Amino acid sequence: MKETIKIAKEVLINNRRSGYTLPTNNELYPAQWNWDSAFIALGYSYFNMEYAIEELEKLISGQWEDGMIPHILFHDTDETYFPNHKTWDCGNKVPSSGITQPPIIATIIKKIVDQNKLDQSQMKRMELIIKKLKKYLEWFYSYRDTNKIGLAAIIHPWESGLDNSPIWDGPLDKVKIEENLKYERRDLNVSRSSNRPLKKDYDGYITLLNQFKKNKYNPNKIVNDSMFNVIDIGFNSILIRATKDLIEVSKKFNLDFTDLKNKISKSEESLIKFYKDEDQSFFSYDFKNHSLIKVDAISNYFILFANLENQKINNKIIDKLKKYNSQKDYFFTTVNPKDKTFEETRYWRGPVWINSNWIVYQGLINKDKNFSSLIKNKTLELLENKKFYEYYNYKTGECLGANNFSWSAALYLDFKFN
Ligand code: GLC
Repeated sequence: MKETIKIAKEVLINNRRSGYTLPTNNELYPAQWNWDSAFIALGYSYFNMEYAIEELEKLISGQWEDGMIPHILFHDTDETYFPNHKTWDCGNKVPSSGITQPPIIATIIKKIVDQNKLDQSQMKRMELIIKKLKKYLEWFYSYRDTNKIGLAAIIHPWESGLDNSPIWDGPLDKVKIEENLKYERRDLNVSRSSNRPLKKDYDGYITLLNQFKKNKYNPNKIVNDSMFNVIDIGFNSILIRATKDLIEVSKKFNLDFTDLKNKISKSEESLIKFYKDEDQSFFSYDFKNHSLIKVDAISNYFILFANLENQKINNKIIDKLKKYNSQKDYFFTTVNPKDKTFEETRYWRGPVWINSNWIVYQGLINKDKNFSSLIKNKTLELLENKKFYEYYNYKTGECLGANNFSWSAALYLDFKFN
């Protein structure tokens, strides 16, 4: 499928701006997003290492003094997007949002460094990035692990990267919507409303944003005051894997990051407590409702990506995942179709997303060769037929959301060349 490889590269190049790449070329997302950029850098690493490193450097350039890397960087201060840099009003040198996203970047960097022979100057640049990433990961343990259990809380659904997943329905019910809340959505001008989050979700998103802004994004204050506080399985699986991978990759640079090790021994112990044997599943925990969030979503299976050293539990999760929907033509749905919250075409409440498949695949490679190959082949087939959309209908393969979606193209290249 030479043609598809060519198209994938073109998608990335066409979405590229000055040193960074937009998630898509339409007006839906006119800025640099944190985890999109990491996936995109991995895509570039297969044909243009310079672009890959620049993408990462540009993302790191938005790092805050305290170590956080925001979920959006508004390099060209475009105001067509909502919420734009003015809405966030964070006052940083690179205009940005005031929350973060899953730190998948550490795993991506390890992969790029392991798979390539970088020259001396590229290694130097990577070393600088890696040092800053250490500060980023430490930020989670310093500011988001308020219970000192080695796990990070997210305080806004957007931090999960899975904006309107039904996992957030219960937690969002606890957000007291600001009176006279006024804002104007822009996403509905460029995307079908039946595929996008609902008004009630946006009311919650913007109320939380306004509260963080009022607290001037003080990291301690916004965590303590947030009306939304969740220990998310997907997010923490990525964080644990990021920490492990950063320790490993640091060795290639003669850096000593072993102090990060203490963090994950505690994390694993804590995370396992969120496994419920009767459901054969991990569930996220909602601190405001004091309850587990029992939604069967694909992000619960990201636990495989964390590489927990518990073979027994890993096997149970794999057995359950095999029944989730890998018998269908297109999978994985972001929510199990049997779950009452499932919606076939609405964003993170049902459709198939390529990065979810990739994360699950990466978690399975060293645990179940046949199953991981099935995921890879089916994902490649989907992309070769339909090309690079934001998400897809699991029954029909119908393309949904934005076209020319960067991480779908970037991850195609990774699936293809590995
Ligand atoms: C949406 C997605 C998020 C992604 C962003 C840009 O907000 O939910 O995961 O990073 O769009 O593509």
